[in-house]
Amino acid sequence: LERTFSIIKPDATKRNLTGAIVKKFEDAGLRVVASKRIHLTKAQAGEFYAVHKERPFYDELCEFMASAPIVAQVLEGEDAIAKNREVMGATNPADAAPGTIRAEFAESVGENSVHGSDAPETAKTEIAYFFSGLELVG
Ligand code: GTP
Ligand code: MG
Repeated sequence: LERTFSIIKPDATKRNLTGAIVKKFEDAGLRVVASKRIHLTKAQAGEFYAVHKERPFYDELCEFMASAPIVAQVLEGEDAIAKNREVMGATNPADAAPGTIRAEFAESVGENSVHGSDAPETAKTEIAYFFSGLELVG
């Protein structure tokens, strides 16, 4: 089984969509093996999204991620990374397939309700950034 890292973003926690989004994960066969609700500082959001430092939307993205609580989770399942990306849908909700989280819940390309790791190496670093080994309960 593979593990991936997920964030339920501020636009979704603010609208009380945490449960609805977790249901999408579970219905797709992904198990929540770790979960915590936290409120990032802008600096912490900046560190997490450091790969996007040079992108024009970086500052806006960090502001947004620090604007309200997030729910950080580790999801486990067969092909969890790809499966999660599938359930999330395209970055821009206008392009997201019907039934995906972003198609149903996202407000815009920036405020798009969820984050998911895009590869095994990023999953590993992102999980370690938010969780200790003891907090991962398979
Ligand atoms: P993540 O799972 O959050 O990494 O999304 P992604 O892999 O589908 O998108 P990407 O890594 O390209 O971008 C990371 C995040 O930056 C997106 O999820 C958006 O929240 C934000 N983002 C991407 N493009 C734009 C944009 O054009 N404008 C704004 N404001 N935010 C953007
Ligand atoms: Mg990404």
